[in-house]
Amino acid sequence: MERIVAVCLSRESRIPQVGAAHHGSAAALPFPDKHFDAVVIDPPYADNVPYADLSDFFYVWLRRTVGDLYPEAFGTPLVPKDEEAVVNPARFGGRKEGERIAQAHYQRLMQQSFEEIYRVLKPEGMAVVMFTHRSTAAWESLIRSLLDAGLYPTASWPVHTEMEASTHQRGKGAIQSTILMACRRRPENAGVGWYAQVRAELERVVPERLREFWQAGIRGADFFISAIGPAVGVFGRYRKVMRPDGVEVTVGDLLEETRAIVTAFALEQLGLARLDKPTRFYVLYRWAYGGEELSFDEANKLAKSVGADLDELAAEHRLIERKGERVRVPIFAKRLGSEAFLKALQTAFDEGRLGQMAEIDHVHLLLHLWSKSDVEALAAVLGRAGVLAEEHPLWRTAQALLEVEQSAGGEVAEEATALAQLLGSKRSLLRGVAAVQDSGRQFRLFG
Ligand SMILES: C[S@@+](CC[C@H](N)C(=O)[O-])C[C@H]1O[C@@H](n2cnc3c(N)ncnc32)[C@H](O)[C@@H]1O
Repeated sequence: MERIVAVCLSRESRIPQVGAAHHGSAAALPFPDKHFDAVVIDPPYADNVPYADLSDFFYVWLRRTVGDLYPEAFGTPLVPKDEEAVVNPARFGGRKEGERIAQAHYQRLMQQSFEEIYRVLKPEGMAVVMFTHRSTAAWESLIRSLLDAGLYPTASWPVHTEMEASTHQRGKGAIQSTILMACRRRPENAGVGWYAQVRAELERVVPERLREFWQAGIRGADFFISAIGPAVGVFGRYRKVMRPDGVEVTVGDLLEETRAIVTAFALEQLGLARLDKPTRFYVLYRWAYGGEELSFDEANKLAKSVGADLDELAAEHRLIERKGERVRVPIFAKRLGSEAFLKALQTAFDEGRLGQMAEIDHVHLLLHLWSKSDVEALAAVLGRAGVLAEEHPLWRTAQALLEVEQSAGGEVAEEATALAQLLGSKRSLLRGVAAVQDSGRQFRLFG
């Protein structure tokens, strides 16, 4: 690594041209039209870092020590914040209204910045944009402003950039890549795309790129965002995308379409395409977000991409714990701690409907009984759910879940440990179960 850095430094330092640094906002560039061959930007990632607020800490000292050397950079008592393109609800009074204004402020400045880039870029020039965020809403906002300014990506690549332990990443989910998008100016005569045709194109182009990204080892939440560049490369070529009834398809709809393609691809690769919806949701959530909390909106988008409904997953399956706008997906011990869920399982068991329940319900029920060493109840559940063979698909699901969860931390690691123990003892468990007679009588699963 050090050698590469040394090579780069020694090569770049030989460039004879002297660079010029300008101090100002990207939303108002002091350059003529069609001036640059390339513009490369690393804009703020929505609400990830409040740069100006953080800078105040250093600014007050720098102002005193070197302020007279750079008066143009230290003209104000604190860092100027009005033109900063970040989502910072606190600056607008906080709460829902502050959040709404902060989002609009960010979107406006990003849009103006992209319009400026379009203006200063030569017609054949290239704009390279880096961006990352785990929230679909942040991506939607960025893509909308990029496309509205007349730019669209013709190539994109996810690059592993974030250190897991970095300050602003810690506790914010699993994203470790930045997406680099090489964008061009959309030709002024670009046509309208028709939804069916654009969708077919997405279904052809996106999986091709996903295959490359999968082979490169990109997984989880990073895999979801890796598809955005290629997808926007498809629909961004058009001035707009329309349905046959004349209604314009939104960027949000197209990103949702993309998410469904990624979900189907990932489930196929994980060998889980045959699963019921709640199980797909559970495994994908763990795969992408581990044990993290998500906004209701984000979790709902994931649910939709597997054809499920978040409210239903919460009410019927107890797969969601909701606190205001935040949701989390409980591990087996927490799910089985819910009275209502226990009751539902007991009723299904009594009425002989256990086999019809979601596979994740089976897996969690088995983990619960296993952790209590209740072999009699385990025997009854395995028997009545029809899971007595070693090659039953339920074991494959449990194995896939273990693979997804084994790199997770926190309480998900607890579930992974229990799963590993259960699967490690599967053969002896099934032998033991065969020896225990299920009398067929009614009995309480949860004593
Ligand atoms: C993701 S960081 C870029 C970090 C940079 N690549 C580096 O390695 O230091 C985004 C930067 O955009 C700056 N920024 C925010 N609003 C801006 C605006 N209106 N014009 C220009 N820069 C802005 C932030 O202060 C922050 O330094």
